[in-house]
Amino acid sequence: MSGRIPKHFIDDLLARVDIVELIDTYVPLKKAGVNYIARCPFHSEKTPSFSVNRGKQFFHCFGCGASGNAIGFLMDFNHLDFVEAVEDLATFAGVDVIRDAAETQLNAVSRDTVNDQYQLLEHVAAFYVHSLRTAEAGKKAVAYLKARSINDELAQRFMLGYASNEWQALANRFDRQILIQTGMLIEKDGKVYDRFRDRIMFPIRDKRGRITGFGGRVLDDSLPKYLNSPETAIFHKSKEVYGLYELLRKQGKPKRILIVEGYIDVIILAGYGIDYAVATLGTATSQAHLELLFRFAPELVFCFDGDNAGREAAWKAMEPAFGTVKDGRQIRIMLLPKEHDPDSLVRTEGADKFTERVGRSQALSDYFFSTLTHDLNINELEGRSQLINKAKPYLDKLSPGVFKEMMFAQLNQLTRAGVLDVSADSATLRQQPQRRSERKDGIVPLPRRIAALLVQYPELIATVEHKEILWEEMEFPGVDLFKLIFTDIKEKKPANTAVLMELYRGQPQAKAVNYLAALNLFVDGQELDLTAVASEFKDAFEKLMDQAKKKAEFRALMAKAGKG
Ligand code: GTP
Ligand code: MN
Repeated sequence: MSGRIPKHFIDDLLARVDIVELIDTYVPLKKAGVNYIARCPFHSEKTPSFSVNRGKQFFHCFGCGASGNAIGFLMDFNHLDFVEAVEDLATFAGVDVIRDAAETQLNAVSRDTVNDQYQLLEHVAAFYVHSLRTAEAGKKAVAYLKARSINDELAQRFMLGYASNEWQALANRFDRQILIQTGMLIEKDGKVYDRFRDRIMFPIRDKRGRITGFGGRVLDDSLPKYLNSPETAIFHKSKEVYGLYELLRKQGKPKRILIVEGYIDVIILAGYGIDYAVATLGTATSQAHLELLFRFAPELVFCFDGDNAGREAAWKAMEPAFGTVKDGRQIRIMLLPKEHDPDSLVRTEGADKFTERVGRSQALSDYFFSTLTHDLNINELEGRSQLINKAKPYLDKLSPGVFKEMMFAQLNQLTRAGVLDVSADSATLRQQPQRRSERKDGIVPLPRRIAALLVQYPELIATVEHKEILWEEMEFPGVDLFKLIFTDIKEKKPANTAVLMELYRGQPQAKAVNYLAALNLFVDGQELDLTAVASEFKDAFEKLMDQAKKKAEFRALMAKAGKG
């Protein structure tokens, strides 16, 4: 739908805005030396360890490690994806987002249409509510909701409505073109008619509260029980979930989110005060769903009906689960008793018992290994080798980290394979904590200090860029990363640290560059004398090059001696 945002636009934007001003609008900042500080918005604390630096255009929390540039701040603070954050930052800076030329024209048009679509669906939802509350025909819908113990407050919270049993109710009232675009009308043989008739209507909102589509349920046993809007420009079943907006209105930072199967389940649970449930839109849970939900809560609990279909769905969810879980993210699995769904269970047991069950739900690792070993005899070599074959493809999907290592360790233990080839990723990771950790005396080794200086003051490149560098002779931990950063700065001349960091978003180097950007190189609060920094950098850099040169000379000498 939208053209790509060109890289140079993002760089210019980052060079133009002031991160101190931006963050100050969300979290009031106080000046402390060269930095601005506040209590960290990303974890709870009593004394401020969140600091924002104007020169680097970078924020960092010494408490929880959160860090990034203005785009990163908006993504984390407002739970936005990258493009949304760039759009919001542009709004903050008072500029329009530029899209790639070829698509700009098209985009300008489609943007208007899309806004019209959101607006229309809002009107349609209000019309459905009106039909539910005032129309004669709406009475049976109200009775249906009552019978399912959905009271007025709940119906309002979820903006439930009723689509009457007419073929042209919408067609006669709203713009037909937009009704077609949003899937509310069906076109057949040159005629149009309403897609939803005689159904309870559930508006489906995106996380910003815009209605993107509807679900509709019949009032009796007829089929199909549910009808959903088709995929449209604004409605994507594999990316959106039901109930997220309503959940976020109740609690902006939920501890956990429960993923259930049905719309009614979400609503009934909310009625029992369990207002942290969402439902997929009649599709299997996707990785995009999980990524979306993990932006809001660190723990997701899959809740499946206890029947066979539910069990199968639970196992199917392992694919996206392993694709998204990583350190700091938890997934749990909750299988309900056979004859129940969340709606019936919470009505039978009450909210406390249900909440207890959520607390007792199985950790992903537990569920995974116990399901896999259920039909295998792991006392036999055959069973153990099957276990490895079945488990490994899932474990390989995991992001590098402690969780991945522990899952492999668990597999090793279960199979007694002992030396099972752990994936390369986690093998390299094992060295990282060592490499990364500060020396006990708090002194940063020289090469790392140089790299950090360069990341924090990219303009320092001017002092050394004309020099010839013997990269092959340079030997120190992290030399490859250093070379990459050096070359990028030399070629791309980023205006500041924030722009530099943008180069590595989503790249494997991102974490290391963040670390260098956050490294404390000077005594806290000390006002910086940039000339002094420049001369320190130049001296240190020359020292490094001297070492390389000596090594080269020594090598040449040895080669000569060898020949002689
Ligand atoms: P109730 O029977 O009203 O309690 O609804 P439920 O939400 O418990 O329904 P069920 O467990 O049968 O289905 C769970 C979800 O699957 C629903 O919320 C729908 O999203 C989807 N679904 C169920 N039946 C249909 C159908 O016939 N068509 C489509 N497209 N989706 C359905
Ligand atoms: Mn149900």
